[in-house]
Amino acid sequence: MAIHLGYVRVESGQETEDISRLRQFERVHMDGQINTHSEYLDPILVRRQHNANDLLQILREAQEHYGHIHSDTIDYLSQKLQLPRARIEGVAGFYSFLYLKPHGEYRVLFSDNITDRMLGNQVLLEEMCRQLWLQPGKVSEDGLVSIGMTSCTGMCDQGPAMLVNGRAITRLTHQRVQEVGHLIRNRTPLSEWPADFFRVEDNIRRKGLLLGNQLSPGDALRAGIALGASGIVGAVKASALRGRGGAGFPTGLKWEATRNAAGTVKHVVCNADEGEPGTFKDRVLLTSYADLVFEGMTLSALAVGAQRGFLYLRGEYRYLLEPLEAVLQRRRVANLLGKNIFGKAGFDFDIAIHLGAGAYICGEESALIESLEGKRGVPRNRPPFPVTHGYLQQPTALDNVETFCQAALAVQMGAENYKAIGTAKSTGSKLISVSGDCPRPGIYEYPFGVSVREILDDCGTVNTRAVQISGPSGACVGESEFNRKLGFEDLPTAGAFMVFDDSRDMFEVARNYVHFFAHESCGFCTPCRVGTAMLQQTMDKIAEGHGTRHDLAEIENLDHVLQTTSHCGLGRTACNPVLHTLKHFRPAYENRLKSLDFEPAFDLDGALARARQMTGRDDAGAHLKTEDA
Ligand SMILES: Cc1cc2nc3c(=O)[nH]c(=O)nc-3n(C[C@H](O)[C@H](O)[C@H](O)COP(=O)(O)O)c2cc1C
Ligand code: SF4
Repeated sequence: MAIHLGYVRVESGQETEDISRLRQFERVHMDGQINTHSEYLDPILVRRQHNANDLLQILREAQEHYGHIHSDTIDYLSQKLQLPRARIEGVAGFYSFLYLKPHGEYRVLFSDNITDRMLGNQVLLEEMCRQLWLQPGKVSEDGLVSIGMTSCTGMCDQGPAMLVNGRAITRLTHQRVQEVGHLIRNRTPLSEWPADFFRVEDNIRRKGLLLGNQLSPGDALRAGIALGASGIVGAVKASALRGRGGAGFPTGLKWEATRNAAGTVKHVVCNADEGEPGTFKDRVLLTSYADLVFEGMTLSALAVGAQRGFLYLRGEYRYLLEPLEAVLQRRRVANLLGKNIFGKAGFDFDIAIHLGAGAYICGEESALIESLEGKRGVPRNRPPFPVTHGYLQQPTALDNVETFCQAALAVQMGAENYKAIGTAKSTGSKLISVSGDCPRPGIYEYPFGVSVREILDDCGTVNTRAVQISGPSGACVGESEFNRKLGFEDLPTAGAFMVFDDSRDMFEVARNYVHFFAHESCGFCTPCRVGTAMLQQTMDKIAEGHGTRHDLAEIENLDHVLQTTSHCGLGRTACNPVLHTLKHFRPAYENRLKSLDFEPAFDLDGALARARQMTGRDDAGAHLKTEDA
């Protein structure tokens, strides 16, 4: 079993001094709380109706109280939920925001997307570590604080960003980091920190069909009720709307398949995991257009015959939970959710929000459903697909946040009007999350068919070298391709648009993405688990000046293996960043290569350097013998 400490993984078989110190800390600080388990856990369990499918939510809520998931908590839950202890530990160990060991009263995680790096996150992290006398990934001796890195937090337009106990702080500067360190040292409760620290901006720069809509809550639903369930499916099909989460599956077909699937209990799930580095448009929709998101989900429920909906919200957006709950409550009061919605007999539907806990793979639809069922977020074998075997193996319509908004618009304005926007195979508009080297980062909405160059002009870029479209798993587009157009005919995208100017080293950009995939691989299948680690090692080897042409050829072989044998899209696209940057920026790689044909990835003699240092030896006998030619 591996325990996550930021990016540092500690294997339980080789318990370190640090962990035994943490255990001691746990004994000293937790003993008083152990007896109070029933006091805090019972209300959670009652609220969650002792439902083992809510295990992830129960663990998360328990951790919000105790700071980490104590072994006694696991025992207690195991007994109350009638689940094996190993199952609970397995779930808790899977998610990087759940901690099986004390992780500090204040848990600081710096966002580590490439755009955070470009804005200096590493220097800020080191500065904070110095200020608090701490090494990255470690917990301070007094149990006060830990500092680490986490994958992209979805704040790329206002980075560098960090999470403190799950709360996002954006636009970090040296001064802000000092202030945060000071507040932590003084043990100031988060509720007393200046509210301004936690301000997250929408940064909407260009409105279109969706962001400029004038709908009031209930408008699209009224239109949907007039059409009836099959009419909604027909309208969404006729609008040719395709999913906005990346794969671009026709939404109407998905809803139709769910509607026609056998079974009377059906579900609607909104994918708000938004973990692809560089994407943050769903955050803005959930902040300022939540009614439209829920309206789209409710329409979908009417169309497919679902009674229950879930919004799966990524853990990084924890701060949106209460505002979203308030919107849901307002909609219940207005009879836009609940029983006999809008007075239509038998139209019963409600939505619950489930929070993720720091696992990018849970954005993959079948992994998300596993996670919703309180399990580790490991992708399922497909087929069968969620439309017939989704949540609890029951028919489930699962769509992206933006897709639900677009569906509501298509139903309200009519399929023909909707289809008139965009291109033949990519109808409607698309939200683009712009970040990186541009003076006006933020959210831009365009009809599909917009060129890369047009977006670059609008956000005021100069000397652009490349744009990464749709995140690390998408495409890197060089200057010669800026006339290419966004849409399923040419450049499909879930929305990320990261800009790199001519001062950027595209090799380092690709290396950051490769580290991301290696870190986020769920480890279920060997090709991806081993392949992403090998890819990371190879890129690190090249970065350290030990790379050869042989390594570049190996990356191409690895890509073939990953593409053909990986269980899900993460493994299949993991080599994309390297292959795409190699195509456009080969010199960035070749300048780092040695002229040798082959050099091993592991420097055995180098690994003995510490032993030599400790023994004070550096004679020939303390080095590995090299074969003379
Ligand atoms: C590794 C991986 C991560 C994904 N992350 C997301 C995500 O964060 N949000 C999302 O909507 N879709 C994500 N997807 C795509 C989903 O599996 C699914 O296709 C999508 O949610 C369906 O909704 P749509 O038809 O509205 O696009 C991801 C896919 C993979 C393979
Ligand atoms: S490809 Fe990677 S992320 Fe997908 S199931 Fe396999 S190990 Fe997990």
